[in-house]
Amino acid sequence: MKRGSVSFLFVLLIATVTSVLCFRDGMLPNGDFERGPKPSDMKGTQVINKKALPSWELSGFVEYIKSGQKQGDMLLVVPAGKFAVRLGNEASIKQRLNVTKGMYYSLTFSAARTCAQDERLNISVAPDSGVIPIQTVYSSNGWDLYAWAFQAESDVAEIVIHNPGEEEDPACGPLIDGVAIKALYPPRPTNKNILKNGGFEEGPYVLPNATTGVLIPPFIEDDHSPLPAWMIESLKAIKYVDVEHFSVPQGRRAVELVAGKESAIAQVARTIIGKTYVLSFAVGDANNACQGSMIVEAFAGKDTLKVPYESRGKGGFKRASMRFVAVSNRTRVMFYSTFYAMRSDDFSSLCGPVIDDVKLLSVRKP
Ligand SMILES: *[C@@H]1O[C@H](CO)[C@@H](O)[C@H](O)[C@H]1NC(C)=O
Ligand SMILES: *[C@@H]1O[C@H](CO)[C@@H](O)[C@H](O)[C@H]1NC(C)=O
Ligand SMILES: *[C@@H]1O[C@H](CO)[C@@H](O)[C@H](O)[C@H]1NC(C)=O
Ligand SMILES: *[C@@H]1O[C@H](CO)[C@@H](O)[C@H](O)[C@H]1NC(C)=O
Repeated sequence: MKRGSVSFLFVLLIATVTSVLCFRDGMLPNGDFERGPKPSDMKGTQVINKKALPSWELSGFVEYIKSGQKQGDMLLVVPAGKFAVRLGNEASIKQRLNVTKGMYYSLTFSAARTCAQDERLNISVAPDSGVIPIQTVYSSNGWDLYAWAFQAESDVAEIVIHNPGEEEDPACGPLIDGVAIKALYPPRPTNKNILKNGGFEEGPYVLPNATTGVLIPPFIEDDHSPLPAWMIESLKAIKYVDVEHFSVPQGRRAVELVAGKESAIAQVARTIIGKTYVLSFAVGDANNACQGSMIVEAFAGKDTLKVPYESRGKGGFKRASMRFVAVSNRTRVMFYSTFYAMRSDDFSSLCGPVIDDVKLLSVRKP
Protein backbone atom coordinates (compact mmCIF):
# COMPACT_ATOMS: atom_id res chain seq x y z
CA MET A 1 0.00 0.00 0.00
CA LYS A 2 1.30 3.47 -0.86
CA ARG A 3 2.17 5.95 1.85
CA GLY A 4 -0.50 8.38 0.56
CA SER A 5 -3.35 5.90 0.96
CA VAL A 6 -2.15 4.91 4.43
CA SER A 7 -2.22 8.51 5.66
CA PHE A 8 -5.58 8.96 3.91
CA LEU A 9 -6.94 5.98 5.86
CA PHE A 10 -5.47 7.42 9.03
CA VAL A 11 -7.22 10.75 8.45
CA LEU A 12 -10.46 8.87 7.75
CA LEU A 13 -10.05 6.91 10.98
CA ILE A 14 -9.44 10.08 13.01
CA ALA A 15 -12.46 11.72 11.37
CA THR A 16 -14.64 8.71 12.23
CA VAL A 17 -13.40 8.56 15.82
CA THR A 18 -14.01 12.29 16.40
CA SER A 19 -17.47 12.20 14.87
CA VAL A 20 -18.33 9.25 17.12
CA LEU A 21 -16.79 10.97 20.15
CA CYS A 22 -18.66 14.26 19.83
CA PHE A 23 -22.07 12.58 19.75
CA ARG A 24 -23.52 10.43 22.51
CA ASP A 25 -27.06 9.15 22.92
CA GLY A 26 -28.65 10.50 26.07
CA MET A 27 -29.59 13.72 27.80
CA LEU A 28 -28.66 16.94 25.96
CA PRO A 29 -26.23 19.23 27.81
CA ASN A 30 -28.34 20.55 30.71
CA GLY A 31 -31.31 18.74 29.12
CA ASP A 32 -32.73 18.14 32.59
CA PHE A 33 -32.38 21.86 33.48
CA GLU A 34 -30.63 21.07 36.75
CA ARG A 35 -28.17 23.93 36.13
CA GLY A 36 -30.25 27.04 36.47
CA PRO A 37 -29.99 30.80 36.01
CA LYS A 38 -28.32 33.09 38.56
CA PRO A 39 -30.84 34.74 40.92
CA SER A 40 -29.96 38.10 39.32
CA ASP A 41 -31.22 36.76 35.98
CA MET A 42 -34.64 35.97 37.43
CA LYS A 43 -37.72 37.93 38.40
CA GLY A 44 -39.79 35.60 40.54
CA THR A 45 -39.87 32.40 38.49
CA GLN A 46 -39.39 34.22 35.16
CA VAL A 47 -35.97 34.07 33.50
CA ILE A 48 -35.25 37.59 32.25
CA ASN A 49 -31.87 37.05 30.55
CA LYS A 50 -32.13 34.91 27.42
CA LYS A 51 -28.62 33.45 27.88
CA ALA A 52 -29.04 32.72 31.60
CA LEU A 53 -29.94 29.05 31.37
CA PRO A 54 -26.70 27.09 30.75
CA SER A 55 -26.53 25.43 27.30
CA TRP A 56 -29.86 26.95 26.21
CA GLU A 57 -31.02 30.14 24.57
CA LEU A 58 -34.45 31.41 25.55
CA SER A 59 -37.01 33.63 23.96
CA GLY A 60 -40.29 34.96 25.34
CA PHE A 61 -41.84 34.24 28.72
CA VAL A 62 -39.86 31.30 30.14
CA GLU A 63 -40.14 30.26 33.77
CA TYR A 64 -37.69 28.18 35.78
CA ILE A 65 -39.71 25.82 37.96
CA LYS A 66 -38.57 23.98 41.06
CA SER A 67 -40.24 20.68 41.94
CA GLY A 68 -42.81 21.15 44.67
CA GLN A 69 -43.63 24.69 43.60
CA LYS A 70 -47.32 25.55 43.80
CA GLN A 71 -49.44 26.97 41.03
CA GLY A 72 -52.89 27.83 42.34
CA ASP A 73 -53.78 24.67 44.22
CA MET A 74 -51.69 22.45 41.94
CA LEU A 75 -48.39 21.08 43.12
CA LEU A 76 -45.87 20.96 40.28
CA VAL A 77 -43.87 17.75 40.18
CA VAL A 78 -40.77 17.41 38.02
CA PRO A 79 -39.80 14.07 36.40
CA ALA A 80 -36.01 14.43 35.91
CA GLY A 81 -34.17 15.87 38.87
CA LYS A 82 -35.54 18.92 40.70
CA PHE A 83 -36.05 21.55 37.98
CA ALA A 84 -37.97 22.10 34.75
CA VAL A 85 -38.91 25.03 32.50
CA ARG A 86 -42.29 26.35 31.51
CA LEU A 87 -42.93 27.96 28.14
CA GLY A 88 -45.42 30.83 28.07
CA ASN A 89 -47.21 32.04 24.93
CA GLU A 90 -44.85 32.10 21.93
CA ALA A 91 -41.89 31.27 24.19
CA SER A 92 -39.17 28.91 23.07
CA ILE A 93 -35.94 27.30 24.17
CA LYS A 94 -33.21 26.29 21.78
CA GLN A 95 -29.89 24.52 21.74
CA ARG A 96 -27.30 23.85 19.04
CA LEU A 97 -25.85 20.39 18.84
CA ASN A 98 -23.10 18.84 16.71
CA VAL A 99 -24.54 16.02 14.64
CA THR A 100 -23.65 14.10 11.48
CA LYS A 101 -25.13 15.50 8.28
CA GLY A 102 -27.63 13.09 6.70
CA MET A 103 -28.17 10.99 9.83
CA TYR A 104 -31.57 10.53 11.46
CA TYR A 105 -32.06 11.45 15.12
CA SER A 106 -34.87 11.06 17.59
CA LEU A 107 -35.53 13.56 20.37
CA THR A 108 -37.28 12.47 23.55
CA PHE A 109 -38.60 14.94 26.11
CA SER A 110 -41.02 15.10 29.02
CA ALA A 111 -43.90 17.53 28.80
CA ALA A 112 -46.84 18.36 31.04
CA ARG A 113 -49.69 20.76 30.49
CA THR A 114 -50.51 23.17 33.27
CA CYS A 115 -53.82 24.80 32.32
CA ALA A 116 -57.07 23.32 31.12
CA GLN A 117 -56.71 24.41 27.50
CA ASP A 118 -55.34 22.31 24.70
CA GLU A 119 -51.63 22.82 24.78
CA ARG A 120 -49.28 22.14 21.90
CA LEU A 121 -45.56 22.22 21.27
CA ASN A 122 -43.86 22.91 17.99
CA ILE A 123 -40.57 21.10 17.93
CA SER A 124 -38.23 21.84 15.07
CA VAL A 125 -34.82 21.35 13.58
CA ALA A 126 -34.97 23.33 10.34
CA PRO A 127 -36.34 22.46 7.86
CA ASP A 128 -38.25 19.77 9.79
CA SER A 129 -40.90 20.61 12.37
CA GLY A 130 -43.78 18.89 14.08
CA VAL A 131 -46.62 20.09 16.28
CA ILE A 132 -47.26 17.76 19.20
CA PRO A 133 -50.63 18.00 20.95
CA ILE A 134 -50.29 17.42 24.67
CA GLN A 135 -53.94 17.67 25.67
CA THR A 136 -54.48 13.94 26.07
CA VAL A 137 -52.92 12.81 29.28
CA TYR A 138 -51.74 9.23 29.28
CA SER A 139 -50.08 9.06 32.68
CA SER A 140 -51.49 10.03 36.04
CA ASN A 141 -48.83 12.50 37.22
CA GLY A 142 -49.54 14.63 34.14
CA TRP A 143 -46.09 14.18 32.61
CA ASP A 144 -45.62 12.19 29.45
CA LEU A 145 -42.57 11.46 27.35
CA TYR A 146 -42.82 12.33 23.66
CA ALA A 147 -40.58 11.41 20.73
CA TRP A 148 -39.94 13.29 17.53
CA ALA A 149 -37.41 12.61 14.77
CA PHE A 150 -35.50 14.64 12.19
CA GLN A 151 -32.83 14.21 9.56
CA ALA A 152 -29.77 16.42 10.02
CA GLU A 153 -29.38 18.81 7.08
CA SER A 154 -25.96 19.96 8.26
CA ASP A 155 -23.36 19.22 10.94
CA VAL A 156 -25.11 21.46 13.46
CA ALA A 157 -28.71 20.92 14.53
CA GLU A 158 -30.52 23.82 16.13
CA ILE A 159 -33.20 22.21 18.27
CA VAL A 160 -36.12 24.53 19.04
CA ILE A 161 -39.01 23.75 21.37
CA HIS A 162 -41.69 26.39 20.94
CA ASN A 163 -45.10 26.97 22.53
CA PRO A 164 -47.29 28.39 19.73
CA GLY A 165 -50.21 28.82 22.17
CA GLU A 166 -52.12 32.02 22.71
CA GLU A 167 -53.61 31.54 26.16
CA GLU A 168 -55.11 34.40 28.12
CA ASP A 169 -52.91 33.70 31.12
CA PRO A 170 -49.28 34.23 30.02
CA ALA A 171 -48.14 31.80 32.72
CA CYS A 172 -50.17 29.01 31.14
CA GLY A 173 -48.19 26.78 28.87
CA PRO A 174 -46.48 23.44 29.00
CA LEU A 175 -43.67 22.38 31.30
CA ILE A 176 -40.63 20.76 29.68
CA ASP A 177 -37.99 18.52 31.22
CA GLY A 178 -35.50 15.76 30.35
CA VAL A 179 -34.64 16.52 26.72
CA ALA A 180 -32.60 13.65 25.25
CA ILE A 181 -31.40 12.56 21.80
CA LYS A 182 -30.56 9.31 20.06
CA ALA A 183 -29.09 8.55 16.63
CA LEU A 184 -31.37 6.26 14.60
CA TYR A 185 -30.05 3.55 12.33
CA PRO A 186 -32.71 2.78 9.72
CA PRO A 187 -33.05 -1.00 9.68
CA ARG A 188 -33.16 -3.06 6.50
CA PRO A 189 -35.34 -6.02 5.56
CA THR A 190 -33.60 -9.37 5.95
CA ASN A 191 -34.16 -12.80 4.47
CA LYS A 192 -36.03 -13.62 7.70
CA ASN A 193 -38.43 -10.69 7.48
CA ILE A 194 -39.73 -8.52 4.64
CA LEU A 195 -40.80 -5.91 7.21
CA LYS A 196 -38.21 -3.58 8.68
CA ASN A 197 -37.81 -3.11 12.44
CA GLY A 198 -40.49 -5.76 13.06
CA GLY A 199 -39.40 -6.18 16.69
CA PHE A 200 -39.43 -2.39 17.31
CA GLU A 201 -35.90 -2.67 18.69
CA GLU A 202 -34.80 0.53 16.91
CA GLY A 203 -36.67 3.53 18.26
CA PRO A 204 -36.56 6.65 20.43
CA TYR A 205 -34.40 7.12 23.51
CA VAL A 206 -36.05 6.02 26.73
CA LEU A 207 -34.87 8.04 29.74
CA PRO A 208 -33.44 5.55 32.26
CA ASN A 209 -35.76 6.67 35.07
CA ALA A 210 -38.87 7.00 32.92
CA THR A 211 -41.46 4.48 34.01
CA THR A 212 -44.20 5.68 31.66
CA GLY A 213 -42.91 4.58 28.24
CA VAL A 214 -42.49 7.05 25.36
CA LEU A 215 -45.43 8.36 23.32
CA ILE A 216 -44.89 8.46 19.58
CA PRO A 217 -47.40 10.99 18.32
CA PRO A 218 -48.91 10.76 14.85
CA PHE A 219 -47.05 12.75 12.21
CA ILE A 220 -49.18 12.67 9.12
CA GLU A 221 -46.97 15.19 7.39
CA ASP A 222 -43.71 13.66 8.50
CA ASP A 223 -41.72 10.94 6.80
CA HIS A 224 -39.09 10.70 9.53
CA SER A 225 -40.48 8.39 12.16
CA PRO A 226 -38.87 8.06 15.61
CA LEU A 227 -39.81 4.39 15.16
CA PRO A 228 -37.88 3.67 11.94
CA ALA A 229 -39.90 2.07 9.10
CA TRP A 230 -43.22 2.45 10.95
CA MET A 231 -45.88 5.14 10.57
CA ILE A 232 -48.37 6.17 13.21
CA GLU A 233 -51.48 6.38 11.07
CA SER A 234 -54.06 7.68 13.46
CA LEU A 235 -55.24 10.62 15.50
CA LYS A 236 -53.58 9.56 18.73
CA ALA A 237 -50.17 8.39 19.81
CA ILE A 238 -48.87 4.90 20.33
CA LYS A 239 -46.64 4.08 23.30
CA TYR A 240 -43.11 2.71 23.06
CA VAL A 241 -42.44 0.39 26.00
CA ASP A 242 -39.12 -0.95 27.30
CA VAL A 243 -38.21 -4.21 29.00
CA GLU A 244 -36.73 -2.27 31.95
CA HIS A 245 -40.20 -1.10 33.05
CA PHE A 246 -42.73 -3.27 31.19
CA SER A 247 -43.34 -6.79 30.04
CA VAL A 248 -42.24 -7.11 26.42
CA PRO A 249 -42.94 -10.26 24.33
CA GLN A 250 -39.57 -10.34 22.53
CA GLY A 251 -36.29 -8.42 22.73
CA ARG A 252 -36.08 -5.15 24.64
CA ARG A 253 -38.83 -3.00 23.11
CA ALA A 254 -42.46 -3.25 21.96
CA VAL A 255 -45.44 -1.05 21.13
CA GLU A 256 -48.57 -0.53 23.24
CA LEU A 257 -51.74 0.46 21.35
CA VAL A 258 -53.06 2.98 23.87
CA ALA A 259 -56.00 4.62 22.11
CA GLY A 260 -58.21 1.96 20.53
CA LYS A 261 -58.87 2.46 16.82
CA GLU A 262 -57.40 5.97 17.12
CA SER A 263 -53.94 4.48 17.69
CA ALA A 264 -52.81 2.60 14.57
CA ILE A 265 -49.36 1.61 13.40
CA ALA A 266 -48.52 0.67 9.82
CA GLN A 267 -45.78 -0.25 7.39
CA VAL A 268 -45.89 -0.79 3.64
CA ALA A 269 -44.00 -3.86 2.39
CA ARG A 270 -42.96 -4.79 -1.12
CA THR A 271 -44.83 -7.91 -2.22
CA ILE A 272 -45.30 -9.85 -5.43
CA ILE A 273 -48.84 -10.09 -6.80
CA GLY A 274 -50.23 -13.64 -6.56
CA LYS A 275 -47.65 -14.82 -4.02
CA THR A 276 -48.71 -16.23 -0.66
CA TYR A 277 -47.40 -14.56 2.52
CA VAL A 278 -47.63 -15.19 6.25
CA LEU A 279 -47.87 -12.26 8.67
CA SER A 280 -47.02 -13.34 12.22
CA PHE A 281 -46.84 -11.31 15.43
CA ALA A 282 -47.13 -11.41 19.21
CA VAL A 283 -50.06 -9.87 21.14
CA GLY A 284 -49.77 -9.36 24.88
CA ASP A 285 -49.98 -6.91 27.75
CA ALA A 286 -47.27 -4.71 29.22
CA ASN A 287 -47.67 -5.77 32.89
CA ASN A 288 -49.11 -2.33 33.68
CA ALA A 289 -52.47 -3.24 35.25
CA CYS A 290 -54.22 -3.02 31.90
CA GLN A 291 -56.87 -5.70 32.31
CA GLY A 292 -59.78 -7.13 30.36
CA SER A 293 -60.79 -8.62 27.04
CA MET A 294 -58.76 -7.06 24.28
CA ILE A 295 -58.72 -7.49 20.53
CA VAL A 296 -55.92 -6.55 18.18
CA GLU A 297 -56.97 -6.17 14.54
CA ALA A 298 -54.29 -6.90 11.98
CA PHE A 299 -54.53 -5.88 8.34
CA ALA A 300 -52.48 -7.07 5.38
CA GLY A 301 -53.75 -5.49 2.20
CA LYS A 302 -57.43 -6.44 2.07
CA ASP A 303 -57.15 -9.31 4.56
CA THR A 304 -57.83 -8.88 8.26
CA LEU A 305 -57.46 -10.92 11.42
CA LYS A 306 -58.93 -10.21 14.86
CA VAL A 307 -56.82 -11.57 17.69
CA PRO A 308 -58.59 -11.74 21.07
CA TYR A 309 -56.37 -11.50 24.16
CA GLU A 310 -57.51 -11.87 27.76
CA SER A 311 -55.29 -9.61 29.80
CA ARG A 312 -54.81 -9.99 33.55
CA GLY A 313 -52.55 -6.96 33.37
CA LYS A 314 -49.60 -8.93 34.69
CA GLY A 315 -47.64 -9.52 31.48
CA GLY A 316 -47.88 -12.37 29.01
CA PHE A 317 -48.49 -12.81 25.31
CA LYS A 318 -49.71 -15.14 22.59
CA ARG A 319 -48.74 -15.54 18.97
CA ALA A 320 -50.96 -15.14 15.96
CA SER A 321 -50.53 -15.38 12.22
CA MET A 322 -52.48 -14.87 9.01
CA ARG A 323 -51.90 -16.19 5.53
CA PHE A 324 -52.82 -14.07 2.54
CA VAL A 325 -52.21 -13.73 -1.18
CA ALA A 326 -50.76 -10.39 -2.26
CA VAL A 327 -53.04 -8.43 -4.60
CA SER A 328 -50.61 -5.56 -5.04
CA ASN A 329 -46.87 -4.98 -5.29
CA ARG A 330 -47.14 -2.93 -2.11
CA THR A 331 -48.98 -4.38 0.87
CA ARG A 332 -49.95 -2.23 3.83
CA VAL A 333 -49.57 -4.02 7.16
CA MET A 334 -51.46 -2.28 9.97
CA PHE A 335 -52.49 -2.90 13.58
CA TYR A 336 -54.92 -1.31 15.98
CA SER A 337 -56.81 -2.19 19.12
CA THR A 338 -60.59 -2.59 18.77
CA PHE A 339 -61.35 -1.21 22.23
CA TYR A 340 -60.16 1.46 24.63
CA ALA A 341 -58.79 0.33 27.98
CA MET A 342 -57.91 2.06 31.25
CA ARG A 343 -55.45 0.93 33.86
CA SER A 344 -57.19 -0.74 36.78
CA ASP A 345 -54.85 0.99 39.25
CA ASP A 346 -55.32 4.43 37.73
CA PHE A 347 -58.52 5.27 35.86
CA SER A 348 -57.06 8.33 34.19
CA SER A 349 -54.42 6.47 32.20
CA LEU A 350 -55.18 5.00 28.79
CA CYS A 351 -53.61 1.66 28.03
CA GLY A 352 -54.01 -1.24 25.63
CA PRO A 353 -52.60 -4.41 24.13
CA VAL A 354 -48.95 -4.74 23.17
CA ILE A 355 -47.71 -5.96 19.80
CA ASP A 356 -44.23 -7.18 19.02
CA ASP A 357 -42.13 -9.46 16.80
CA VAL A 358 -44.01 -8.66 13.60
CA LYS A 359 -42.80 -10.80 10.69
CA LEU A 360 -43.81 -11.02 7.07
CA LEU A 361 -42.50 -13.89 4.92
CA SER A 362 -43.45 -15.33 1.57
CA VAL A 363 -44.33 -19.05 1.61
CA ARG A 364 -45.00 -21.72 -0.94
CA LYS A 365 -48.61 -22.46 -1.65
CA PRO A 366 -49.84 -25.34 0.53
C1 LIG B 1 -32.63 8.24 38.44
O1 LIG B 1 -32.89 7.57 39.66
C2 LIG B 1 -31.74 7.44 40.47
C3 LIG B 1 -32.13 6.60 41.68
O2 LIG B 1 -33.38 6.96 42.16
C4 LIG B 1 -31.20 8.81 40.86
O3 LIG B 1 -30.05 8.68 41.63
C5 LIG B 1 -30.89 9.59 39.59
O4 LIG B 1 -30.50 10.91 39.92
C6 LIG B 1 -32.11 9.65 38.69
N1 LIG B 1 -31.76 10.28 37.42
C7 LIG B 1 -32.47 11.26 36.90
C8 LIG B 1 -31.99 11.77 35.59
O5 LIG B 1 -33.49 11.72 37.42
C1 LIG C 1 -19.00 21.34 17.68
O1 LIG C 1 -18.24 21.49 16.52
C2 LIG C 1 -17.45 22.70 16.50
C3 LIG C 1 -16.80 22.81 15.13
O2 LIG C 1 -16.29 21.56 14.71
C4 LIG C 1 -16.44 22.65 17.64
O3 LIG C 1 -15.70 23.83 17.68
C5 LIG C 1 -17.19 22.49 18.96
O4 LIG C 1 -16.28 22.34 20.03
C6 LIG C 1 -18.12 21.26 18.92
N1 LIG C 1 -18.90 21.25 20.12
C7 LIG C 1 -19.02 20.16 20.89
C8 LIG C 1 -19.88 20.30 22.10
O5 LIG C 1 -18.46 19.11 20.64
C1 LIG D 1 -43.15 25.24 13.76
O1 LIG D 1 -41.87 25.86 13.77
C2 LIG D 1 -41.20 25.91 12.51
C3 LIG D 1 -39.84 26.51 12.73
O2 LIG D 1 -39.90 27.72 13.39
C4 LIG D 1 -42.05 26.68 11.51
O3 LIG D 1 -41.40 26.66 10.26
C5 LIG D 1 -43.41 26.03 11.41
O4 LIG D 1 -44.23 26.77 10.54
C6 LIG D 1 -44.07 25.94 12.77
N1 LIG D 1 -45.32 25.20 12.64
C7 LIG D 1 -46.47 25.66 13.14
C8 LIG D 1 -47.67 24.83 12.86
O5 LIG D 1 -46.54 26.67 13.81
C1 LIG E 1 -46.46 -1.44 -8.70
O1 LIG E 1 -47.79 -1.12 -9.01
C2 LIG E 1 -47.97 0.21 -9.47
C3 LIG E 1 -49.47 0.47 -9.62
O2 LIG E 1 -50.20 -0.70 -9.59
C4 LIG E 1 -47.22 0.41 -10.77
O3 LIG E 1 -47.36 1.74 -11.22
C5 LIG E 1 -45.77 0.09 -10.55
O4 LIG E 1 -45.05 0.17 -11.76
C6 LIG E 1 -45.59 -1.29 -9.95
N1 LIG E 1 -44.19 -1.49 -9.61
C7 LIG E 1 -43.54 -2.61 -9.85
C8 LIG E 1 -42.10 -2.65 -9.43
O5 LIG E 1 -44.05 -3.59 -10.40
